[in-house]
Amino acid sequence: MTDAATTGTVAEPLAELAPEPPAQLALVDLRGVTRDVVLPDGRKLEILRGVDLTVGPGEHVAVVGRSGTGKSTLLNILGLIDSPTSGEYLLEGTPIGRLRSRARARRRGDDFGFVFQQFNLLQGRTALENVAAPLLYARGRKFWTRTRLAAQMLDRVGLGDRLETMPEKLSGGEQQRVAIARALVRGPRVILADEPTGALDVDTGRAIMDLLDEAATDTGAALVTITHDLAIASRADRQFRLADGVLVPIHLDSPAAVVESAEVPLGGMSPAGAGSAVGQRGAHELEATA
Ligand SMILES: Nc1ncnc2c1ncn2[C@@H]1O[C@H](COP(=O)(O)OP(=O)(O)OP(=O)(O)O)[C@@H](O)[C@H]1O
Ligand SMILES: [Mg+2]
Repeated sequence: MTDAATTGTVAEPLAELAPEPPAQLALVDLRGVTRDVVLPDGRKLEILRGVDLTVGPGEHVAVVGRSGTGKSTLLNILGLIDSPTSGEYLLEGTPIGRLRSRARARRRGDDFGFVFQQFNLLQGRTALENVAAPLLYARGRKFWTRTRLAAQMLDRVGLGDRLETMPEKLSGGEQQRVAIARALVRGPRVILADEPTGALDVDTGRAIMDLLDEAATDTGAALVTITHDLAIASRADRQFRLADGVLVPIHLDSPAAVVESAEVPLGGMSPAGAGSAVGQRGAHELEATA
C-alpha cells in the first residue's frame, strides 16, 4: 500500500475529506454492563451497576477493589463464565449476548485462559495431565500432540522436570506455574487472573507475576489481573478500582503512587488482611525500584 495519505504535504489538503481510519477493534469491550442477583429473601443485589471497559490486544490491565465489590463477578463475565444482566459485551466486535451456548463455550475455550487464587488443579492427575486437559476440548488434537504441547508448556514455566508430579506434591508457587501452563496451552488471546498471587508469599507472588507478564507479552495476549496488591497492580499498563459497581481508573504508575494510594482504593479491608500487606508490598516495591 502506498502511504501518501499518511505522509507530508500531498495528503494534507485531502485529510479533511478522507474517512477516519478505522479504530483498532478492542479485543474486549464492555459497555454499561450490569449484573444483579436476587437474594433468597427476594431483595435484588446490584453487584455491577454499569461497567465500561475496553482492553486491546496485548494490553495489561489490573483491577483492585475491596472484598465483595464484584471483581470475580466481572472476571467471570469477561471470561464468558457468567453473563451480564444488561449492557453489552463485544468480543472483538461480536456481541456476546447473541451467541448460542455452544459458540459461547467455544469462544471461552479458544480465547481465554484462567488463573485462580487457589490454582484449581485437578487432584489425582499429574501436572502433565492437568495442562493437557484443556486440549481435550480443542478439536483435531491427538493424544501425543496434546502431551507434547503440555510438556512444552510445563517446560516453559520451569517445570519440565515435574511432568509426572501430582499437584499435592508441589509447592503453591509450583502449582500456580502448572495453572499458568494450563491457562496458556491453547494460546488464549486474553488471560484472566483472579488474585493469582493471593495464596503466595511476596517473593513467590512476584515471580509468578513475572511469569504471567512475560508469557502474556511473548504471546501477545491481553492480561487482566485482579489483585489486592497495589504493587502488583502498578505493573499493569492501566489500573482500575471497582467500587459501587463501577470501574474507576486509578494511576499507580509510580512506586510513590503505590504507597500513597495504598489506603485509597482498598480502605476498609480487614486490618490484618490485604490492606496492611499491600502497604508493606508497596514499600517493598519502592525499595526494589529505588
Ligand atoms: N450468584 C450469587 N448469588 C448471590 N450473591 C452473589 C452471587 N455472586 C456473587 N454474589 C455476591 O456479590 C458480591 C460480589 O462478589 P464477588 O465474588 O464478585 O466479589 P469479589 O470482589 O471478587 O470479592 P473477593 O475480593 O472477596 O474475592 C458479594 O457480596 C457476593 O456475595
Ligand atoms: Mg473474588
